[in-house]
Amino acid sequence: MSASMSDSSPPLSTVAGAASATPPAPPPIDFDAIPRARLPELLRRMPKAELHIHIEGSLEPELMFALAERNHIVLPYADVEALRAAYAFTDLQSFLDLYYAGASVLLREPDYFDMASAYFERAAQDQVRHVEMFFDPQTHTGRGVDMGTVIDGLMRACDRAREQHGISSGLILCFLRHLSEDEALATLQQALPFRHHLLGVGLDSSERGHPPEKFARVFEQAGALGLHRVAHAGEEGPPEYIRSALDVLKAERIDHGVRCLEDPSLVAHLAALGVPLTVCPLSNVRLRVYGDMAQHRLPELLRAGLKVTLNSDDPAYFGGYLNQNFIETFAALPELGARDAYAMARCSFDASFIDADARAAHVAELDRCFRHCAAETKA
Ligand code: ADE
Ligand code: ZN
Repeated sequence: MSASMSDSSPPLSTVAGAASATPPAPPPIDFDAIPRARLPELLRRMPKAELHIHIEGSLEPELMFALAERNHIVLPYADVEALRAAYAFTDLQSFLDLYYAGASVLLREPDYFDMASAYFERAAQDQVRHVEMFFDPQTHTGRGVDMGTVIDGLMRACDRAREQHGISSGLILCFLRHLSEDEALATLQQALPFRHHLLGVGLDSSERGHPPEKFARVFEQAGALGLHRVAHAGEEGPPEYIRSALDVLKAERIDHGVRCLEDPSLVAHLAALGVPLTVCPLSNVRLRVYGDMAQHRLPELLRAGLKVTLNSDDPAYFGGYLNQNFIETFAALPELGARDAYAMARCSFDASFIDADARAAHVAELDRCFRHCAAETKA
């Protein structure tokens, strides 16, 4: 460094300080300024991610009938109304029976594209910015549909969602837990050529009697491939299934997980680990995990310090997409307020598998949304 430069330059310590100076932190968001009356609008408007959506569960009756006609399949219902009337579930299995039957209309690549594109249209309306989408390949390969047909159609819809709506997304391949370990292992092998399209693996379908341990080896193999791991546990199944999803499957998120509340030491364990729960309130009510929304134990999960996101699960079957889940949940549970809405939207980004820059951008947008709402209310 020349003498003249050093003479005219500020001391190094000042330069270093100036270079690394961060702008002053903005004041905290004034959640208390936002009254409950503003919540419906805020819940609709806030940016969010969806981390628990079975794309086959987004197949609306109208599209199911259209695809049935296109593929020359006869559905055992006279019309859309008769089909909807059959959606009176008594438990998880009563739903799954109809859900798998409904998926039988999906045969060709455009069918998967149309189904997922319809979901993304709804997600865009709900201000969803990022989606981690479950799909059940065995539901399709078991009927002779190629893995590639399924993934190609879904990926084309994901690409279109980014172009048209700026929504980012990734696919999570779920193993059906009512089928055997060997079938899950074979499914992972069939998916290997498409590894680059997959974000992770999950575990779904009939929970009771099918503990996570059954899938230890396939999850281990998926982990070795660098795939993320998530698992349904504690929806209808006991809290022990949540423990084994964590310990044996190394699940990074627990899908549903609401029955953890039956075991306080498990709640403490989940809180200490910071493992998120992807909770689906409309699903829980429709599948009779809770008698009605007012009985949902979401507030206890939040007050216990758990990381929680809200999700739609199977929106075509359970009466609503993501915003409807937020609206009905907050309407039925008066103890929830703006701070909880923020916490769950924030968690949807924090618990997602997006990169740090994208996460920071989404969180900044979320913060602006809440600051704006608080300022508008005070004005
Ligand atoms: N597959 C689709 N929806 C599901 C749910 N809620 N639980 C388990 N498996 C599912
Ligand atoms: Zn689910």
